[in-house]
Amino acid sequence: MASWLVTGSNRGIGLSLCRLLHARGDRVIALCRTPSAELQTLGVRIETGIELTSATSLEDLSKRLAGVQLDGAILNAGILEGDDLESFGAESLRRQFEVNAVAPLLLARALLPNLAAGSKLGLITSRMGSIDDNGSGGYYGYRMSKTALNMAGRSLAMDLRPRGIAVAILHPGMVATRMVGFAGIPPEQAAAGLLARLEALKLDSSGRFWHANGEELPW
Ligand SMILES: NC(=O)c1ccc[n+]([C@@H]2O[C@H](COP(=O)([O-])OP(=O)(O)OC[C@H]3O[C@@H](n4cnc5c(N)ncnc54)[C@H](OP(=O)(O)O)[C@@H]3O)[C@@H](O)[C@H]2O)c1
Repeated sequence: MASWLVTGSNRGIGLSLCRLLHARGDRVIALCRTPSAELQTLGVRIETGIELTSATSLEDLSKRLAGVQLDGAILNAGILEGDDLESFGAESLRRQFEVNAVAPLLLARALLPNLAAGSKLGLITSRMGSIDDNGSGGYYGYRMSKTALNMAGRSLAMDLRPRGIAVAILHPGMVATRMVGFAGIPPEQAAAGLLARLEALKLDSSGRFWHANGEELPW
């Protein structure tokens, strides 16, 4: 029975990841600020009150996870604040950087005592963070923050390879969640694809950028 940690677990893709992992018999530690009714009915371990941009929350989490060994961690929580050339503002740019890039990098480091050779780290980023794929512009804060996360993921892959920990940089697809007005593929489909990518992940393929459907994405 493998043990997985998932952030952003109370809704959307994170909730579906927890549901699928639990259904296949894995142990799940679901991180959230406030649990949803759906998460509470799953029967997984829930760690609440975790504000991922708070240093105090991360310290508290490390204490709660002392001695816990994880086979995998899926850093999925994120925010999207739509903007364009006229409307973007510094506060929103910073907020998206904090949640989408800085917080997962800090959490990845905080989780190192819980990871060992053979463990896997999945960073849920977005194709919108691909520079090559940007053919429509806009979304400055979201795109920039996800590009930064992609780079963090690549450095983590390099730095964690000697410890035997593999890192996948993963785009879930266009998924019907609150983030995108519930338009797209079902979250369960995205979650199944993400888990398949993590299943296939090896040290040899660490640090690459994949769509949940298996396609390798350009940087
Ligand atoms: N949906 C898509 O089409 C799509 C496409 C590409 C990439 N993604 C990525 O997929 C991931 C999951 O997104 P989703 O579609 O499932 O979105 P979602 O339904 O909006 O869920 C976002 C999750 O992140 C959590 N979160 C946000 N800020 C947080 C913070 N500061 N501290 C703790 N938790 C925080 C939210 O918790 P609260 O409920 O407490 O706010 C929620 O659980 C994100 O990284 C997103 O960028 C999604």
